[in-house]
Amino acid sequence: MPESLNKKASVLALCGKGGVGKTSLSATIVKILSSDPDNKVLAIDADPAVGLSTALGIPVSKTVDDIRNELIQKVEAGKTTDKAEMLSMLDYEMFSAMKENNNIAFLAIGRPEKEGCYCQVNHILKDLIASMAENFDFVVIDGEAGIEQVNRRVMEKVTHLILVSDASRKGINVVQTIKKVSDDAIDYEKAGLILNRLRNAEERKKLIIPPELDCLGWIPEDDTIRSFDIDGRSILEIDNSPAITAVENCLREMGL
Ligand SMILES: Nc1ncnc2c1ncn2[C@@H]1O[C@H](COP(=O)(O)OP(=O)(O)O)[C@@H](O)[C@H]1O
Ligand SMILES: [Mg+2]
Repeated sequence: MPESLNKKASVLALCGKGGVGKTSLSATIVKILSSDPDNKVLAIDADPAVGLSTALGIPVSKTVDDIRNELIQKVEAGKTTDKAEMLSMLDYEMFSAMKENNNIAFLAIGRPEKEGCYCQVNHILKDLIASMAENFDFVVIDGEAGIEQVNRRVMEKVTHLILVSDASRKGINVVQTIKKVSDDAIDYEKAGLILNRLRNAEERKKLIIPPELDCLGWIPEDDTIRSFDIDGRSILEIDNSPAITAVENCLREMGL
């Protein structure tokens, strides 16, 4: 369909304090979006701990960072300096590092880049990730804890910023900071908050959420999510659960 070729991918990024449920919710969102076989979904793990790989049941062989380091070693050993050669090598490596599972593709970033060094390699990688994203309908980025370390290579193109917090004041404070920083750094279309692991509607009612955080909804504490994580099973295998239904509602709230 020529129409879909021109359609810009929606790029969703999940950010928030460590342990609030970014990886679980990223995998759930990938599950929901990929349930339509016409949707091509690229999942990007931007957390060095690569937890999304387990949550999706897609193993990682090489991270973008591994590829970057290999190229840097080649450059340092004087084996490659030609830009076209570097580009074709990176292009090939990136596509072979991308794991596919039906209509889901998966890419792990690895460790965040060091600022200021190897600019050329970093720029090529950023362009490659951006051009890869164009082949998908949705890109879901499991972000790192704080925006300070947010990986600029992947965050620049974000269209939907999803802030994740639990019921704690600390969690809310972190997303407030992330929102403030991203308002300057990212040209996103929509941003919204998902409250995760709440006990019930009563608990939600008691929480005072700053209005600028635009709460999309809340996800209940869900034993299925917990036990799948304990067993290291993929969230893609969950048939249905209250958390999945709640995430669907949040996505709808965002117009997705
Ligand atoms: N809605 C939920 N119900 C129950 N357990 C959850 C829920 N969301 C996340 N968890 C659990 O909380 C822990 C942290 O979640 P995780 O997604 O790894 O957080 P993060 O990626 O933000 O560090 C995991 O053990 C996960 O299984
Ligand atoms: Mg995580």
